[in-house]
Amino acid sequence: MEQIETETAIMVADGHPERRREAFFGRLKGPKLRQHQAALIANRLPALRLDLTMPPPAALSALYASPKERFRLEIGFGGGEHLLHRSGEDLACGFIGVEPFVNGMAKLLSALEAAPRDNLRLFDDDAALLLDWLPAASLDAVDLLYPDPWPKKRHFKRRFVNTKNLDRIARVLKPGGYFRFASDIDTYVNWTLRHVGDHSAFIWTAARPADWQTPFAGWPGTRYEAKAIREGRPPAYLTFQRV
Ligand SMILES: C[S@@+](CC[C@H](N)C(=O)[O-])C[C@H]1O[C@@H](n2cnc3c(N)ncnc32)[C@H](O)[C@@H]1O
Repeated sequence: MEQIETETAIMVADGHPERRREAFFGRLKGPKLRQHQAALIANRLPALRLDLTMPPPAALSALYASPKERFRLEIGFGGGEHLLHRSGEDLACGFIGVEPFVNGMAKLLSALEAAPRDNLRLFDDDAALLLDWLPAASLDAVDLLYPDPWPKKRHFKRRFVNTKNLDRIARVLKPGGYFRFASDIDTYVNWTLRHVGDHSAFIWTAARPADWQTPFAGWPGTRYEAKAIREGRPPAYLTFQRV
């Protein structure tokens, strides 16, 4: 398996500044794709993938075949189980799913073959790049579900939640929009509460313990979560609102 340690920030190519991956430190590839999965990546993904070399549309509805009333982004969808569930239950919502791990993307594309839908667009690279491309105040919700935990202290700086990414999420959320975060790793939950608590754009909506101990409404679970629960790590479900 290929372990990619990605470089940060800005590089200059052909005299033009070009951003490289900044917030992604995981694996881009796992086991070799089966032939059919590779064909889906080659043939199906291009029509669904957002092209960040193009200017973003003024209104996100333009990204979909029919107009949408709401827009929701899921960062790091893994095998896509949660994204498929949510996009299937709310057809008036335009979804964007981001997952750089090619095997996860292939899994979602396989599921879409059986259950195609016109309210889903995809991006297969670092979500930070997409967040910088999206128009300001364009999303109703951003989901970050079981982000890579990076439990060792020396790796905390690789966590997706940091001040810069919170600035990015704050910029793209509409006032009143939601940022949802779930994790089974205590230190990441506390880390997120501290970082978001220090950020002036968000408030934590919880009033009592049950609010963060109970899954989000309509929650279908995720594969990663099932493993965490099996292994005795109860998750926390944090909902923040863009002020
Ligand atoms: C622990 S997995 C959780 C997957 C899924 N959300 C779940 O709950 O089953 C975290 C996922 O986030 C993805 N990821 C990590 N950094 C990312 C980034 N900067 N942008 C988008 N996705 C990212 C990884 O490739 C991985 O699939």
